[in-house]
Amino acid sequence: MSLPATTVVADAGGSATSFPPHLARELRASSVHPLPHGTSPARVWRVVTPEGDLAVKVLQQGAGIADGQDIDSFLREPAQIRRVHHEVPAIGALYVDVLGQWQRPGWAAYAMPYVAGSPAVAPATARGDARDRLHRVFTSLTEHGYARSRRHAATTLRPPELALVRKRLWILQRHVPRELLDGPPVRINGRVCRPLVPLLQSIERDAGLLRKLWPRLVSYPVHGELDLADLLASGPGGGRFTLLDPRGTRGYGDPVDDFAHVLFSMTVLDRAVADGVRTWHTARTGGKPASWVLRSVGPHRGYPQLGEWFVGMLGRLPFGAELSRVDPHWRLRLAFAHGFHALVEATARLSERNPPPRPAWAPGPEALATTFVALGLRLLEQAVAGAGGRAGRDGELPDVSTGLDDDTGVVWRYGDGRRR
Ligand SMILES: Nc1ncnc2c1ncn2[C@@H]1O[C@H](COP(=O)(O)OP(=O)(O)O)[C@@H](O)[C@H]1O
Ligand SMILES: [Mg+2]
Repeated sequence: MSLPATTVVADAGGSATSFPPHLARELRASSVHPLPHGTSPARVWRVVTPEGDLAVKVLQQGAGIADGQDIDSFLREPAQIRRVHHEVPAIGALYVDVLGQWQRPGWAAYAMPYVAGSPAVAPATARGDARDRLHRVFTSLTEHGYARSRRHAATTLRPPELALVRKRLWILQRHVPRELLDGPPVRINGRVCRPLVPLLQSIERDAGLLRKLWPRLVSYPVHGELDLADLLASGPGGGRFTLLDPRGTRGYGDPVDDFAHVLFSMTVLDRAVADGVRTWHTARTGGKPASWVLRSVGPHRGYPQLGEWFVGMLGRLPFGAELSRVDPHWRLRLAFAHGFHALVEATARLSERNPPPRPAWAPGPEALATTFVALGLRLLEQAVAGAGGRAGRDGELPDVSTGLDDDTGVVWRYGDGRRR
C-alpha cells in the first residue's frame, strides 16, 4: 500500500522539524499544521490522517529548561486524561480523548481527536456568553468532580506554586530586571511592593499566614493547570466543552488552584499574550522607589471584571457555599495562588530553548516575564494585606486588581506612578 505524501507546513520560524517524520508516516498524515502555541514548550499540531483529523502534542527532549518540563512529566498529561475518563466518567466527558501515545529517543507525543472549536472564554467573547459558559462548566466540574471525592488534606508547609517559584528562581535571575527580584521596594502601578526574594522570605517565615493557606480538603480530580485557553467550546452555539492540557497530577489536589489559573487568565494572561502590555519604567531617585507602570493595550478593558464575577459565582455554587463553611480562607488562598501563578507563568515564558516565532508587535518572552513578575509582586502584596484584614478575618477576596486598566494620565500627572 502506498502512503499519502505528507505535507508538513512549517510555522513561520520553519520549525517543522519539531514534528517527528516517523510519526507523520505512522499516522499516514497527509498534512501537519501547527496549532496555537500554549503555555508550555510542547507543540501541538493538527494532523490530517485517513481516519480523521488529530491534534498531536509533541515534546522534544530539552525544549524547556525548567524542572517539570521533562518527558516523564509530559507523559503524565495523557495518563491523567485516561485516568479521569476511566475513574470519573462524568468529568471524563468534559476531557479530550487520548488516542495514542509515543515515547522515542529525543521526543514524546500523544494524539487526541482534533476539536474544531475555539476557547470558550476569551477577551473578545460576549460577556453574557462567557458568564453562561463559566457557570455551566464550573457547575459540572464542582458537582461531578471537586465535590464528589474529597478528603482531608495533609498539611504542607508551603503552597505548591511557592515551592515551584523557589525552584525556578534562577531562571528569573537570568532575565528579569534585578530591582524586581531583590533590594529596596519598587512601585508597581502605583503600589509599593517588596521585590521577589524578600517578599517570598517574609511569606515563608510567617507561620500563621502559611497555616491560613493550607487547604482543609482536597479533591479528585483537579485539572491542575486550567488556563482558559485549555477550555474549548465547539458544536452548535459553542455548547460543547472540551478540557485539554491538565498538569498531569496523579491524585487529589486543591480546586482553588484551578480557580486561580482561570482568574489569572482573565486578569492578566489572555490579554497580555494576545495584545502585549505597555510598560514605563522610572529609575529610583533620591530615596523614591523605582516605578513600573504597566498598562494593557488591547480593547477588552472589562475582562478582569469577569474574573471577579467568576469568584463571586463560585461562592454561590453549592460547592463554593460548602467550601466557605469548611474552609473559610479559600478566597485568601485563591488570591495567593493567583499571585504565585503570575510568577510561575513568568518562569514558563523564559524556559523555552526555542521560543516560537511571533509577529513583530507581539511581546517577547522577557517582556512578558517582566510583566508577570511585576504584577505577581503587586498581587502578592495585596494578598498579604488582605490576610491581615478582612480577607483573613471574614473570608473575603483580597484585592486582585492589577492596575493594568487604570487611567494612565494619573500616573504621568504625578510623575512617579503614585496614585491619589
Ligand atoms: N485536541 C485539540 N483540538 C484542537 N485544538 C487543540 C487540541 N489540543 C490542543 N489544541 C490547541 O493547541 C493549544 C495548545 O495546546 P496545549 O495542550 O494547551 O499546550 P500547552 O501545554 O503548551 O499549553 C490549545 O490552547 C488549543 O488551541
Ligand atoms: Mg495549555
